Amino acid sequence: MLTNKKSEDIVILAVETSCDETSAAVVVNGRHIKSNIISSQVDIHKKFGGVVPEIASRKHVELIMPVISQALDEASIKLEQVDAIAVTYGPGLVGALLVGLSAAKGLAFATGKPLVGIHHIEGHIAANYLENDVLEPPFICLVASGGHSHIVHVSDHHSFRIIGQTRDDAAGEAFDKIARALGLGYPGGPLIDAEARKGDPRAVDFPRVHFNDGTWDFSFSGLKTAVLNYLNGKEQKGEAINIPDVCASFQQAVVDVLVNNTIQAAVDNDVRRIALAGGVASNSQLRSCMKEAADRNSMEMFYPSPVLCTDNAAMIGAAAYYELKRGNVSGLDLNAVPSLKLGTSCG
Ligand code: KG4
Ligand code: ZN
Repeated sequence: MLTNKKSEDIVILAVETSCDETSAAVVVNGRHIKSNIISSQVDIHKKFGGVVPEIASRKHVELIMPVISQALDEASIKLEQVDAIAVTYGPGLVGALLVGLSAAKGLAFATGKPLVGIHHIEGHIAANYLENDVLEPPFICLVASGGHSHIVHVSDHHSFRIIGQTRDDAAGEAFDKIARALGLGYPGGPLIDAEARKGDPRAVDFPRVHFNDGTWDFSFSGLKTAVLNYLNGKEQKGEAINIPDVCASFQQAVVDVLVNNTIQAAVDNDVRRIALAGGVASNSQLRSCMKEAADRNSMEMFYPSPVLCTDNAAMIGAAAYYELKRGNVSGLDLNAVPSLKLGTSCG
């Protein structure tokens, strides 16, 4: 049994299956993780160079109930003791989302507990609450993952305004594509991050795109093409490619744009707190450059530990706490929405 549970504590069982991680977690009061089980399918998808949706769904079906049982066991809590069941219902791969959603709906129906459907990006943002007790809105959050690159103005725990976004590739997608071109493997972000530590970020001057139209939008497809052209040019001339230098230079180009736009968005919106979220938020160069820029501008900076940056259910439990507190719950007819808009948790 969950020991020392106080009567006012809100305990949430959360489920996340939007992509290739099957995850379940038990979170207390939106801030304290009792368990966070993450079963990654990365080794299965690696050989295809990316996530194969059909395989992801089938793996989620196999793993979802064992992962949920493990999350409850590790938290020493019985299903009847939880106050609500939270689940990601979009955006993501529809087949993958449906597995977690069906499991969560089944548990909510069987136990009579409220169901809280959560937007995946709202979850990534809420990951910051799990380790930073002092963080409260308003803040500017850079959400950079394999599918998204957003600058979000978080004015309240449940009020989000996207004030910048990618016009083409997401930052993580660019990392994955360049890693593939370099033959490094999948997922590319951590592999490029590791290679870049051995390289010179000034070795190759790759382009940084800035829009002078009053937005804080991103574009990474030109950078991706510039790196591919550079690699092809080297190959045609029979010249050796210095992989660490290419990784460091590419990574610096991405980081410079992410940092510049995020800090500028905070300055322009008169916000003094910056948070990072999503898989790319675990990038070591992004963290250190953003910290330097935040310090220079007298801003506070927050970021989750790497395991909470990539997909996990604890972040869904954190977001669900704030939705539940304001009475925002979902019906049992909640459906998966692959292209769900931010700010629409609970349906
Ligand atoms: O948030 P996430 O787990 O899944 C999505 O919602 O997309 O993010 C996965 C992405 C992948 O593109 C991966 O290459 C990238 O995050 N990533 C990184 C790092 N770790 C993961 N990118 C740059 N540096 C890293 N250290
Ligand atoms: Zn994600």
